[in-house]
Amino acid sequence: MDLVAWAYAVAEGRLVLSLPRRWVHVQGVAKRAALAAGIVPEAERDLLMAAAVLHDVGYAQDVAETGFHALDGARYLEEQGFPERLCALVAHHSCAYREAELRGCSAELARWVDEETPLRDALWWADMTTGPDGDTTGIRERIAEIQARYGPEDLVTFFVRQAEPELVAAVERTEARLKAAGIEVR
Ligand SMILES: [Fe+2]
Repeated sequence: MDLVAWAYAVAEGRLVLSLPRRWVHVQGVAKRAALAAGIVPEAERDLLMAAAVLHDVGYAQDVAETGFHALDGARYLEEQGFPERLCALVAHHSCAYREAELRGCSAELARWVDEETPLRDALWWADMTTGPDGDTTGIRERIAEIQARYGPEDLVTFFVRQAEPELVAAVERTEARLKAAGIEVR
């Protein structure tokens, strides 16, 4: 099985029944990632797609361990035998290191390195411009929606407030690359 088909099989298997809304979001993120395929090297497009499909697998009941989905997802994918680079992309997606700081699990997350490449930015862009129902949204609307969904006292709200400049920067870099490549996206 190729990497993308494997990613879909695992993500669907873990999410579709227990977290159907999350599964719809993930499918939307995968669609966005496919739009950005043109700004990553051809040999790495499957990696971007697989990371998009698997980025939230750590929310699944049978995957969650620490309660921090980026870390739990990366650990689970490593156990399953997915490539190290894919596990690292999931571990660090959408500024996860900042949430790890708030949750006191930075050391565990540091097991993986954030590659800080256009591919990684494209994954963050796809996640941060896709709403919880798989709809395309703007980065500012996405951040506001997360804060509203979790509420003013939630750690995730604190996290996303702190992470906003880095999330916006990754989105803007990706949109500049898309523009330069002549790829039109909303
Ligand atoms: Fe996501």
